[in-house]
Amino acid sequence: MFSLKNKKAIITGGGSGIGRAISVLFAKQGAEVHVLELTLESAQNTVEEIESNGGIVFAHACDVANHQEVKTTFEKIGAIHILVNNAGIAHVGKVDTTSETDFDRIMNVNVKGVYNCLHASIPALKNAGGGVILNLASIACWVGIPDRFAYSTAKGAVMAMTLSVAKDYLKENIRCNSISPARVHTPFVDGFISKNYPGQEAEIFEKLSQSQPIGRMGKPEEIATLALFLCSDESSFITGSDYPIDGGFIKLNN
Ligand SMILES: NC(=O)c1ccc[n+]([C@@H]2O[C@H](COP(=O)([O-])OP(=O)(O)OC[C@H]3O[C@@H](n4cnc5c(N)ncnc54)[C@H](O)[C@@H]3O)[C@@H](O)[C@H]2O)c1
Repeated sequence: MFSLKNKKAIITGGGSGIGRAISVLFAKQGAEVHVLELTLESAQNTVEEIESNGGIVFAHACDVANHQEVKTTFEKIGAIHILVNNAGIAHVGKVDTTSETDFDRIMNVNVKGVYNCLHASIPALKNAGGGVILNLASIACWVGIPDRFAYSTAKGAVMAMTLSVAKDYLKENIRCNSISPARVHTPFVDGFISKNYPGQEAEIFEKLSQSQPIGRMGKPEEIATLALFLCSDESSFITGSDYPIDGGFIKLNN
C-alpha cells in the first residue's frame, strides 16, 4: 500500500519543514521527486537526505511567485502525477497593522504562487493521464486566529482554489485536496517567533504548543504521512476535501 513507484511528483518549498518531510517520504515510497525551491542551496539538505536513502530527486531553483519561472520549470520536468503546493510564508498582523507591501508579498507567494503552479500543472497532469494535487491550507481558513489577517486571507483562497480545481478537472482524472495543519514545528514557526517575539521565544513556543489541545505542535513527518495517503492511489475516491490535522485545534478548543 501507499507505493508511489513510477510516479513523478513536484513539491514546492521542499527544502524545509513540511515540504522536506513530504519530499523525503515520497521518495522513500518510490516517487521521482522534483523539489522547487527559491535557490538550489535551499533544496540541498533534502537532496542529500533523499540520495543517501537511495531515492531519486531533482532540485529546481524556482520562485513560485514568478509565473514565467514556474511555467519554464514545469515544462522542463514534463508529465507529472503529483503536485504538492507547499511553499508558503508567514505574516503576523491585524488588518490595520498589515501594510500594503506585506499584504501583496503574502498574496504573491501564498495565493499567486499556488495559482501559478496549478496553472502550469494541468497540462503536465493531463500528459500523465491524470493525477493528484495537494494544497497546504491551514486551520487559519477554518477558525479566526488572532493577528493573522493576510495569512488567513491567503489560506482561505487556497481552500477555494482546491474546490474550484477539484470540480473543473473531474473528467480529466485529476483529484485535488488540501490539508489544514495547526501549528507544526518547522523553521517557519521558529523564524516567525524570533522575528515577531524577540526575547520571548521560549514563552511563545510553549503558548503555541498548548494551543493544540493535544498539548504539542505537530511534526512535519505527521503531515507527510497524511500527504502520502492523499497523493497515493489508496485515496482514489477522495477529491474536493480538506483534512484538518491539528491535535484537536478546530473541534476541541473550548
Ligand atoms: N508550520 C506550520 O505551523 C504550518 C501550519 C499550517 C500550514 N502551514 C503551511 O505549510 C507550508 C509549509 O510550511 P513550513 O512550516 O514547512 O515552512 P518552512 O518555512 O519550513 O518551509 C517553506 C519552504 O518554502 C520555500 N519557499 C518560500 N517561498 C518560496 C517561493 N516563493 N518559491 C519557492 N519556494 C519558496 C522556503 O524556501 C522554504 O524552504 C506553508 O504553506 C505553510 O503556510 C504550516
